[in-house]
Amino acid sequence: ANMTAPPISAEEMEELREAFGKIGRRIILVAVISSCMVHGLKSSEVAKTFRKAINKKEGICNVAGTSEQSGTQHSYSEEEKVAFVNWINKALEKDPDCKHVLPMDPNTNDLFTGMGDGIVLCKMINLSVPDTIDERTINKKKLTPFTIQENLNLALNSASAIGCHVVNIGAEDLKEGRQHLVLGLLWQVIKIGLFADIELSRNEALIALLRDGESLEDLMKLSPEELLLRWANYHLEEAGCAKINNFSSDIKVRAHAEAYADQCPDFNEDDMVLRNKDVREKDDLKRAECMLDEADKLGCRQFVMPADVVRGNPKLNLAFVANLFNKYPALKKPENQDIDWSSIEGETREERTFRNWMNSLGVNPRVNHLYADIDDAMVIFQLYEKIKVPVDWDRVNKPPYPKLGSNMKKLENCNYAVELGKKEAKFSLVGIAGQDLNAGNRTLTLALLWQLMRRYTLNILEDLGDGQKVVDDTIVSWVNGTLTNAGKGTISSFKDMSISSSMPVLDLIDAIQPGSIRYDLLKTEDLTEEEKLNNAKYAISMARKIGARVYALPEDLVEVKPKMVMTVFACLMARGMRKA
Ligand SMILES: *[C@@H]1O[C@H](CO)[C@@H](O)[C@H](O)[C@H]1NC(C)=O
Ligand SMILES: *[C@@H]1O[C@H](CO)[C@@H](O)[C@H](O)[C@H]1NC(C)=O
Ligand SMILES: *[C@@H]1O[C@H](CO)[C@@H](O)[C@H](O)[C@H]1NC(C)=O
Ligand SMILES: *[C@@H]1O[C@H](CO)[C@@H](O)[C@H](O)[C@H]1NC(C)=O
Repeated sequence: ANMTAPPISAEEMEELREAFGKIGRRIILVAVISSCMVHGLKSSEVAKTFRKAINKKEGICNVAGTSEQSGTQHSYSEEEKVAFVNWINKALEKDPDCKHVLPMDPNTNDLFTGMGDGIVLCKMINLSVPDTIDERTINKKKLTPFTIQENLNLALNSASAIGCHVVNIGAEDLKEGRQHLVLGLLWQVIKIGLFADIELSRNEALIALLRDGESLEDLMKLSPEELLLRWANYHLEEAGCAKINNFSSDIKVRAHAEAYADQCPDFNEDDMVLRNKDVREKDDLKRAECMLDEADKLGCRQFVMPADVVRGNPKLNLAFVANLFNKYPALKKPENQDIDWSSIEGETREERTFRNWMNSLGVNPRVNHLYADIDDAMVIFQLYEKIKVPVDWDRVNKPPYPKLGSNMKKLENCNYAVELGKKEAKFSLVGIAGQDLNAGNRTLTLALLWQLMRRYTLNILEDLGDGQKVVDDTIVSWVNGTLTNAGKGTISSFKDMSISSSMPVLDLIDAIQPGSIRYDLLKTEDLTEEEKLNNAKYAISMARKIGARVYALPEDLVEVKPKMVMTVFACLMARGMRKA
């Protein structure tokens, strides 16, 4: 590797000093760390000896096929296991409920056995999206196969609800610790948590990453991965380093770092990375170790081992950088500029629910931004297939689209998607045109998405009921009947204000699985808003715990949002029918 330092001009030096004043030294440190890490994982440059050493120590493990469907060999990555174990150990270090399995030993199969009772997984999900799982619903003591099953149901259904793709993975897989499935699910859960704040509406300072000639909308359309890459490049540029294209290319500590160290007399001990002669280390692994030592000082030594850095494991390097971002974003919201802050809205609950629902079905690409990411209708087509509406893929323009006229191609798709909705799915799409989908008209797009989700939910019931047609009243009748049989009060419709207390939902759960609801934990009358929410959180988690894949949020019950209320009762009905 070429380690000579390109000279720094006086002008660059001046900028650098200014940058120091503005954003502080840590940033440069971070920039250099990112730089060290992301620069250069060209495997051709990794000496053969290293590769041999790495392969021996941290190679890919093959395990005999355990998935019944495929019967094939599944491999899992040992380094991912190590990374996740360390992350979980740290994240749940102080949680008294996890003492029975933590800390796990990264060098054993602790992870796979430790996940088996569902507690750790529930906790990790709740860390990634706070308040997803009601503490009261986790079975913690004197676990039996049945209560373990409940925990795993709770974990899997909650994972779905936060947008993990959990098709083809069941409680059995977790109980038996099927490695590739456990790691796959954990990665999704961890990533959702790491990415939660890499979003303009959650961190307005990200606007500092706006480029010349770019609109706010353009920036808002970027995926978390793209924003992270930009962020890394932003700091690399500030530090005068070359840019990176991805999180898996070749490693080479920026020769610049050396130059800085020599030319910046006011570096102090904290900034040792720049003075550290090890940075000039020519050995890739040693240099990576040196970089990670520095990351350690920032409390950011997570996810990667030196070998992962050198080999360019994109998943783990991405996680490492995301964690750096979360701890030290070091971006300032620009003060001047004519930015229309009001256009930066977070997504609504409804939008998030739709997005989580479709992501949990495994649509490709993953939907990060509801409107922008479905403007070519590719995701809509996949959802049509999930509700058994046949798609003529020959009529679909598939990405990548040509630079010129790409929107025309997308619009054609959207027109076809609306046509399918009207003619095949028999949706009510009055006044909706492809254009509305393509341009992301909120009301009209939501109207289509709701009908897709509703049909999906009803299809599940129809499949259980041997194809008999199900409408809202069918569900209300079933709910009424079940509640009456259990000696509980009924509901008039999905708009019944009694739902605001969550009592009908809790009663129904208790009717489906007698004795499951701990009424002693609940307030049932004269509820304040806070008490209603408290009940609703319990109700949603309990529904998931008894096996209903509920996407709705507690607030939907408290506010009696009829659409989401309908999905809650429909999922419970599906659960009730499965028992019968
Ligand atoms: C889930 O997160 C919320 C908010 O951080 C917390 O109050 C609650 O105790 C957590 N539940 C579990 C099961 O960890
Ligand atoms: C990452 O970027 C480098 C160029 O810096 C390129 O050669 C390489 O193919 C890219 N890798 C991936 C996985 O995109
Ligand atoms: C979306 O469509 C509706 C109905 O056509 C229209 O009233 C509304 O103005 C549109 N919204 C936007 C932002 O274009
Ligand atoms: C459910 O019960 C309520 C109250 O008893 C009644 O008004 C309503 O008509 C019933 N709905 C259905 C669909 O059975």
